[in-house]
Amino acid sequence: MPEATKEQILDALRQIQDPDLHQDIVTLGFVTQHAICDGLVKVTINLTTPACPVKDQMREQAEKLLRALPGVKTVNVEMTAVAKAPVQRQIAPDIQHIVAISSGKGGVGKSTVSVNLACALAKTGAKVGLVDCDVYGPDVPMMMGLSGDVQQFAGKLLPKERHGVRTMSIGYLLAEEKPVMWRGPMVHKLIEQFLSDVFWGPLDYLLVDMPPGTGDAQISLAQIVPLSGAVLVTTPQNVSTFDVGKAIGMFKQVNVELLGLVENMAGFAIEGRVEGARAGTKVRLDAGGTPIELATDANGRFATVVDVFGKGGAERLAARHGCPVLGQVPLNPLVRIGGDAGDPIVVTEPDSLVARRFQEIAGRLVQRIAIKSHQALPILQ
Ligand SMILES: Nc1ncnc2c1ncn2[C@@H]1O[C@H](COP(=O)(O)OP(=O)(O)OP(=O)(O)O)[C@@H](O)[C@H]1O
Ligand SMILES: [Mg+2]
Repeated sequence: MPEATKEQILDALRQIQDPDLHQDIVTLGFVTQHAICDGLVKVTINLTTPACPVKDQMREQAEKLLRALPGVKTVNVEMTAVAKAPVQRQIAPDIQHIVAISSGKGGVGKSTVSVNLACALAKTGAKVGLVDCDVYGPDVPMMMGLSGDVQQFAGKLLPKERHGVRTMSIGYLLAEEKPVMWRGPMVHKLIEQFLSDVFWGPLDYLLVDMPPGTGDAQISLAQIVPLSGAVLVTTPQNVSTFDVGKAIGMFKQVNVELLGLVENMAGFAIEGRVEGARAGTKVRLDAGGTPIELATDANGRFATVVDVFGKGGAERLAARHGCPVLGQVPLNPLVRIGGDAGDPIVVTEPDSLVARRFQEIAGRLVQRIAIKSHQALPILQ
């Protein structure tokens, strides 16, 4: 039987559609290598993000299609990814995407979301950085379990790394408990230094933990560097969504893309695990006087979310501003404990409901960044 040609390989791969970009992977330029020799087919598919949620599905589809070609005995599909920025930046050109994690309000979980999303992305194999721009209350060092002096290399500051995430914070540069009393221009200068004078190395994503409000730091960041967008964190109550609405207005004014909302503290997670329990085992609990009955899954885990602050706040806000809700994160004391201990829940309890929510949000976030970047690429439009 004659062996399949390289053209036949490409034609077979044309049947695979990118679900977000609505084009086939050959037209999108994702197939960067394809060869056939003595019945062995080798193909490289280069995706737009290492955190692509359909990566495994695509590989399986490619393997199946290629195996069906004439004369093919073995199939080798390599999946790679480059989270390519649509524009080359002057500042921090090795960082593909810079994303602000912000909110109009304090204490809603910006730092918690930043830290957990950074760790979730790093676990997918992406190169991730986290910069703490909350000069007045830097929480990244504690939440990432990092402290001590910053080393220098070739005149640049070396980021501190843990859980696979490179981090920089004013917290490393100042004595503990010394308050920062800075005016706007100093904040601007510091953010500029954090982007240009830190030895980040190549990064797919740099998340920026912002201070609360719509002040100097937000405006400075947007002025200093083109951002891939902002994620806004809110809680379900009206007081929070009202303030976040103002923050959305500010980002729109400075032309920053709104990537989506994260609704944090969205109910209270009741969850746990019964060692050795079979799927469907009933677990009866007392939730503050209300009896609830849950069933375990195949791993013996049970979980539910009870309402605390009301529902739908983020959805209403998202509908008003034409952006998606990336996901909801319920309250779970383990989140706070993990934050205080420097070991985010995504790292310590990756199978918990809350950690899975963070992982899903990270997936949706990078998906949206990939779509936005693709739309901005002149060559592919
Ligand atoms: N889903 C959650 N479950 C339990 N605790 C949470 C959750 N989200 C945040 N917290 C806790 O709430 C507190 C405030 O969160 P965090 O510091 O992340 O908010 P913030 O918006 O960054 O605050 P600030 O405006 O002061 O920077 C922290 O102690 C954190 O551990
Ligand atoms: Mg914070």
